[in-house]
Amino acid sequence: MIEFSDVDFDYPQGQPALRDINLSIKTGELVAILGGNGAGKSTLVRHINGLLKPTRGTVTVFGNNTRKASVAEISRRVGIVFQSPDHQLFAETVEKEIDFALRNFGTSLQFRHERIRDVLDFFDLQKYRSSSPLKLSSGEKKRLSIASIMAWKPDILILDEPTVGQDAFQQDKLKELVGLWTDEGKTVVIVSHDLEFLWGLVPRLIILSDGSLVADGKTEEILMKEELIQGESLHKPQLLDLAVMLRGTPPYHSFQNASDAAKWILKSRE
Ligand SMILES: Nc1ncnc2c1ncn2[C@@H]1O[C@H](COP(=O)(O)OP(=O)(O)OP(=O)(O)O)[C@@H](O)[C@H]1O
Ligand SMILES: [Mg+2]
Repeated sequence: MIEFSDVDFDYPQGQPALRDINLSIKTGELVAILGGNGAGKSTLVRHINGLLKPTRGTVTVFGNNTRKASVAEISRRVGIVFQSPDHQLFAETVEKEIDFALRNFGTSLQFRHERIRDVLDFFDLQKYRSSSPLKLSSGEKKRLSIASIMAWKPDILILDEPTVGQDAFQQDKLKELVGLWTDEGKTVVIVSHDLEFLWGLVPRLIILSDGSLVADGKTEEILMKEELIQGESLHKPQLLDLAVMLRGTPPYHSFQNASDAAKWILKSRE
Protein backbone atom coordinates (compact mmCIF):
# COMPACT_ATOMS: atom_id res chain seq x y z
CA MET A 1 0.00 0.00 0.00
CA ILE A 2 2.97 2.29 0.67
CA GLU A 3 5.80 1.64 -1.76
CA PHE A 4 9.18 3.37 -2.00
CA SER A 5 11.17 2.37 -5.11
CA ASP A 6 14.78 3.52 -5.42
CA VAL A 7 14.01 6.78 -3.64
CA ASP A 8 16.60 9.52 -3.21
CA PHE A 9 15.80 12.89 -1.76
CA ASP A 10 17.99 16.00 -1.64
CA TYR A 11 16.88 19.19 0.10
CA PRO A 12 17.46 22.27 -2.04
CA GLN A 13 21.03 23.36 -1.29
CA GLY A 14 21.22 20.63 1.28
CA GLN A 15 22.98 17.32 1.44
CA PRO A 16 21.20 14.14 0.31
CA ALA A 17 18.66 13.26 3.03
CA LEU A 18 17.46 9.90 1.63
CA ARG A 19 19.47 7.47 -0.46
CA ASP A 20 18.19 4.50 -2.40
CA ILE A 21 15.22 3.69 -0.18
CA ASN A 22 13.25 0.57 -1.12
CA LEU A 23 10.44 -0.20 1.21
CA SER A 24 6.94 -1.56 1.13
CA ILE A 25 4.39 -1.33 3.92
CA LYS A 26 1.18 -3.36 3.81
CA THR A 27 -2.29 -2.40 5.01
CA GLY A 28 -2.68 -2.98 8.75
CA GLU A 29 1.06 -3.09 9.48
CA LEU A 30 2.58 -1.38 12.51
CA VAL A 31 5.97 -0.02 11.55
CA ALA A 32 8.49 1.88 13.66
CA ILE A 33 11.24 3.96 12.09
CA LEU A 34 14.33 4.46 14.20
CA GLY A 35 17.68 6.14 13.76
CA GLY A 36 19.85 8.90 15.20
CA ASN A 37 19.29 12.64 14.80
CA GLY A 38 19.42 13.68 11.17
CA ALA A 39 19.12 10.09 9.89
CA GLY A 40 16.21 11.08 7.59
CA LYS A 41 13.22 9.74 9.54
CA SER A 42 11.03 12.84 9.31
CA THR A 43 12.04 13.32 5.68
CA LEU A 44 10.97 9.75 4.89
CA VAL A 45 7.53 10.00 6.49
CA ARG A 46 6.83 13.33 4.78
CA HIS A 47 7.06 11.42 1.51
CA ILE A 48 4.16 9.20 2.55
CA ASN A 49 1.62 12.04 2.53
CA GLY A 50 3.15 13.65 -0.55
CA LEU A 51 4.40 16.71 1.29
CA LEU A 52 7.85 15.95 -0.11
CA LYS A 53 8.35 14.33 -3.52
CA PRO A 54 11.35 12.13 -4.28
CA THR A 55 14.25 13.67 -6.19
CA ARG A 56 14.72 10.29 -7.87
CA GLY A 57 12.63 7.13 -7.76
CA THR A 58 8.93 6.85 -6.90
CA VAL A 59 6.64 6.70 -3.90
CA THR A 60 3.19 5.21 -4.37
CA VAL A 61 0.44 5.29 -1.76
CA PHE A 62 -2.75 3.29 -2.42
CA GLY A 63 -1.47 2.81 -5.94
CA ASN A 64 -1.11 6.55 -6.62
CA ASN A 65 2.25 8.01 -7.51
CA THR A 66 2.70 10.90 -5.04
CA ARG A 67 4.27 13.00 -7.77
CA LYS A 68 1.04 12.88 -9.74
CA ALA A 69 -1.61 12.89 -6.98
CA SER A 70 -2.37 16.16 -5.20
CA VAL A 71 -1.44 16.56 -1.53
CA ALA A 72 -5.15 17.17 -0.83
CA GLU A 73 -6.06 13.79 -2.34
CA ILE A 74 -3.46 11.93 -0.31
CA SER A 75 -4.16 13.89 2.87
CA ARG A 76 -7.69 12.52 2.98
CA ARG A 77 -6.29 9.08 3.79
CA VAL A 78 -2.92 9.77 5.37
CA GLY A 79 -2.76 11.62 8.68
CA ILE A 80 0.60 12.88 9.90
CA VAL A 81 1.35 14.20 13.36
CA PHE A 82 4.45 16.35 12.98
CA GLN A 83 7.44 16.17 15.26
CA SER A 84 6.87 19.74 16.40
CA PRO A 85 3.24 20.56 17.32
CA ASP A 86 3.96 24.25 16.71
CA HIS A 87 4.12 23.44 13.00
CA GLN A 88 0.66 21.95 13.12
CA LEU A 89 -1.54 23.90 15.53
CA PHE A 90 -3.10 27.09 14.28
CA ALA A 91 -6.78 27.36 15.33
CA GLU A 92 -8.24 29.77 17.87
CA THR A 93 -9.42 27.08 20.25
CA VAL A 94 -8.69 23.44 21.02
CA GLU A 95 -12.16 22.49 19.80
CA LYS A 96 -11.74 24.31 16.48
CA GLU A 97 -8.35 22.70 16.01
CA ILE A 98 -9.92 19.25 16.18
CA ASP A 99 -12.94 20.31 14.12
CA PHE A 100 -10.89 21.74 11.26
CA ALA A 101 -10.27 18.55 9.28
CA LEU A 102 -13.68 17.07 10.16
CA ARG A 103 -15.35 20.17 8.71
CA ASN A 104 -13.13 20.22 5.67
CA PHE A 105 -14.01 16.63 4.90
CA GLY A 106 -17.69 17.55 5.05
CA THR A 107 -18.79 15.28 7.89
CA SER A 108 -22.14 15.88 9.64
CA LEU A 109 -22.47 18.19 12.63
CA GLN A 110 -23.50 15.35 14.93
CA PHE A 111 -20.57 13.20 13.85
CA ARG A 112 -18.19 16.11 14.41
CA HIS A 113 -19.53 16.70 17.93
CA GLU A 114 -19.18 13.05 18.82
CA ARG A 115 -15.66 12.75 17.47
CA ILE A 116 -14.51 15.94 19.22
CA ARG A 117 -15.95 14.75 22.52
CA ASP A 118 -14.38 11.29 22.15
CA VAL A 119 -10.86 12.49 21.41
CA LEU A 120 -10.95 15.21 24.09
CA ASP A 121 -11.96 12.53 26.61
CA PHE A 122 -9.38 10.06 25.36
CA PHE A 123 -6.52 12.56 25.60
CA ASP A 124 -7.76 14.21 28.78
CA LEU A 125 -8.10 17.62 27.11
CA GLN A 126 -11.79 18.31 27.87
CA LYS A 127 -10.96 21.16 30.25
CA TYR A 128 -9.09 23.06 27.52
CA ARG A 129 -11.93 22.81 24.98
CA SER A 130 -12.31 26.60 24.64
CA SER A 131 -8.69 27.54 25.33
CA SER A 132 -6.16 28.63 22.76
CA PRO A 133 -3.86 25.75 21.74
CA LEU A 134 -0.95 28.13 22.35
CA LYS A 135 -1.69 28.12 26.07
CA LEU A 136 -1.19 24.38 26.48
CA SER A 137 1.98 22.80 27.86
CA SER A 138 4.26 21.23 25.28
CA GLY A 139 3.12 17.70 26.19
CA GLU A 140 -0.52 18.80 25.91
CA LYS A 141 0.14 20.45 22.54
CA LYS A 142 1.59 17.20 21.26
CA ARG A 143 -1.49 15.36 22.51
CA LEU A 144 -3.78 17.87 20.83
CA SER A 145 -1.97 17.46 17.53
CA ILE A 146 -2.44 13.68 17.80
CA ALA A 147 -6.11 14.14 18.81
CA SER A 148 -6.86 16.38 15.83
CA ILE A 149 -5.59 13.71 13.42
CA MET A 150 -7.15 10.82 15.30
CA ALA A 151 -10.56 12.53 15.12
CA TRP A 152 -10.97 11.83 11.40
CA LYS A 153 -9.54 8.31 11.49
CA PRO A 154 -7.15 8.29 8.52
CA ASP A 155 -6.34 4.92 6.93
CA ILE A 156 -2.65 5.57 7.54
CA LEU A 157 -1.59 7.23 10.77
CA ILE A 158 1.94 8.62 10.97
CA LEU A 159 3.28 9.72 14.35
CA ASP A 160 6.61 11.58 14.35
CA GLU A 161 8.14 11.26 17.84
CA PRO A 162 4.81 10.88 19.65
CA THR A 163 6.25 10.12 23.10
CA VAL A 164 8.27 13.31 23.49
CA GLY A 165 7.09 15.16 26.60
CA GLN A 166 4.51 12.51 27.54
CA ASP A 167 4.40 11.13 31.08
CA ALA A 168 4.00 7.41 31.80
CA PHE A 169 0.18 7.61 31.92
CA GLN A 170 -0.03 9.38 28.56
CA GLN A 171 2.47 6.96 27.01
CA ASP A 172 0.18 4.10 28.03
CA LYS A 173 -2.76 5.92 26.43
CA LEU A 174 -0.71 6.31 23.29
CA LYS A 175 0.01 2.59 23.25
CA GLU A 176 -3.71 1.95 23.68
CA LEU A 177 -4.46 4.23 20.74
CA VAL A 178 -1.96 2.46 18.49
CA GLY A 179 -3.51 -0.88 19.55
CA LEU A 180 -7.03 0.36 18.74
CA TRP A 181 -5.86 1.59 15.37
CA THR A 182 -4.17 -1.63 14.33
CA ASP A 183 -7.12 -3.68 15.61
CA GLU A 184 -9.25 -1.78 13.10
CA GLY A 185 -6.88 -2.87 10.34
CA LYS A 186 -5.36 0.59 9.91
CA THR A 187 -1.71 1.19 9.17
CA VAL A 188 0.46 2.96 11.74
CA VAL A 189 3.96 4.34 11.18
CA ILE A 190 5.75 5.61 14.28
CA VAL A 191 9.01 7.54 14.22
CA SER A 192 10.76 7.28 17.56
CA HIS A 193 14.05 6.92 19.40
CA ASP A 194 12.19 5.40 22.27
CA LEU A 195 12.77 1.64 22.12
CA GLU A 196 11.45 1.35 25.66
CA PHE A 197 8.07 2.56 24.36
CA LEU A 198 8.14 0.71 21.04
CA TRP A 199 9.16 -2.61 22.49
CA GLY A 200 5.75 -3.30 24.03
CA LEU A 201 4.04 -2.68 20.69
CA VAL A 202 6.15 -5.31 18.89
CA PRO A 203 6.25 -3.44 15.58
CA ARG A 204 8.24 -4.12 12.45
CA LEU A 205 11.40 -2.07 13.01
CA ILE A 206 13.15 -0.10 10.30
CA ILE A 207 16.45 1.60 11.03
CA LEU A 208 17.73 4.54 9.01
CA SER A 209 21.30 5.76 9.13
CA ASP A 210 22.57 8.77 7.24
CA GLY A 211 19.64 8.60 4.81
CA SER A 212 19.95 4.87 4.09
CA LEU A 213 17.88 1.95 5.29
CA VAL A 214 20.23 -0.27 7.29
CA ALA A 215 17.83 -2.73 8.94
CA ASP A 216 14.27 -3.92 8.51
CA GLY A 217 12.79 -6.76 10.51
CA LYS A 218 10.80 -8.03 13.46
CA THR A 219 11.37 -6.37 16.84
CA GLU A 220 12.99 -9.44 18.36
CA GLU A 221 15.38 -9.88 15.42
CA ILE A 222 16.55 -6.27 15.56
CA LEU A 223 16.87 -6.19 19.35
CA MET A 224 19.30 -9.10 19.16
CA LYS A 225 21.66 -7.10 16.95
CA GLU A 226 23.63 -5.42 19.72
CA GLU A 227 26.16 -3.75 17.41
CA LEU A 228 23.46 -2.28 15.22
CA ILE A 229 21.53 -0.84 18.18
CA GLN A 230 24.66 0.67 19.71
CA GLY A 231 25.99 1.94 16.38
CA GLU A 232 22.78 3.87 15.73
CA SER A 233 22.77 5.55 19.15
CA LEU A 234 19.69 3.72 20.34
CA HIS A 235 19.12 2.62 23.91
CA LYS A 236 17.87 -0.89 24.30
CA PRO A 237 15.12 -1.23 26.94
CA GLN A 238 16.99 -1.32 30.26
CA LEU A 239 15.26 -4.45 31.42
CA LEU A 240 16.57 -6.31 28.38
CA ASP A 241 20.12 -5.21 29.18
CA LEU A 242 19.62 -6.54 32.68
CA ALA A 243 18.21 -9.80 31.33
CA VAL A 244 21.28 -10.28 29.11
CA MET A 245 23.61 -9.55 32.05
CA LEU A 246 21.85 -12.00 34.34
CA ARG A 247 20.86 -14.80 32.02
CA GLY A 248 22.35 -14.33 28.58
CA THR A 249 20.30 -13.78 25.41
CA PRO A 250 16.62 -13.83 26.31
CA PRO A 251 13.75 -15.18 24.16
CA TYR A 252 12.80 -11.70 22.91
CA HIS A 253 9.88 -13.01 20.86
CA SER A 254 8.08 -14.21 23.99
CA PHE A 255 8.25 -10.80 25.71
CA GLN A 256 5.29 -8.59 25.01
CA ASN A 257 6.19 -6.12 27.73
CA ALA A 258 8.52 -5.32 30.60
CA SER A 259 6.57 -7.53 32.98
CA ASP A 260 7.21 -10.64 30.82
CA ALA A 261 10.93 -9.86 30.81
CA ALA A 262 10.93 -9.36 34.59
CA LYS A 263 9.22 -12.74 35.07
CA TRP A 264 11.80 -14.42 32.86
CA ILE A 265 14.67 -12.88 34.83
CA LEU A 266 13.13 -13.84 38.17
CA LYS A 267 12.40 -17.40 37.07
CA SER A 268 16.13 -18.11 36.80
CA ARG A 269 16.60 -17.01 40.38
CA GLU A 270 13.94 -19.26 41.90
N1 LIG B 1 14.09 21.86 5.58
C1 LIG B 1 15.34 21.37 5.42
N2 LIG B 1 16.23 21.96 4.59
C2 LIG B 1 17.47 21.46 4.41
N3 LIG B 1 17.93 20.35 5.03
C3 LIG B 1 17.08 19.72 5.87
C4 LIG B 1 15.75 20.19 6.12
N4 LIG B 1 15.14 19.35 7.00
C5 LIG B 1 16.05 18.40 7.30
N5 LIG B 1 17.21 18.62 6.63
C6 LIG B 1 18.43 17.77 6.68
O1 LIG B 1 18.09 16.46 6.24
C7 LIG B 1 18.66 15.46 7.06
C8 LIG B 1 17.56 14.54 7.63
O2 LIG B 1 16.72 15.31 8.46
P1 LIG B 1 15.43 14.70 9.18
O3 LIG B 1 14.71 15.84 9.81
O4 LIG B 1 14.69 13.87 8.21
O5 LIG B 1 16.13 13.76 10.28
P2 LIG B 1 15.47 12.96 11.49
O6 LIG B 1 15.96 11.54 11.37
O7 LIG B 1 14.00 13.16 11.51
O8 LIG B 1 16.19 13.63 12.76
P3 LIG B 1 15.65 13.93 14.26
O9 LIG B 1 15.85 12.68 15.05
O10 LIG B 1 16.56 15.02 14.73
O11 LIG B 1 14.23 14.36 14.17
C9 LIG B 1 19.46 16.20 8.12
O12 LIG B 1 20.81 16.21 7.73
C10 LIG B 1 18.90 17.60 8.10
O13 LIG B 1 19.89 18.55 8.43
MG1 LIG C 1 12.74 14.07 12.86
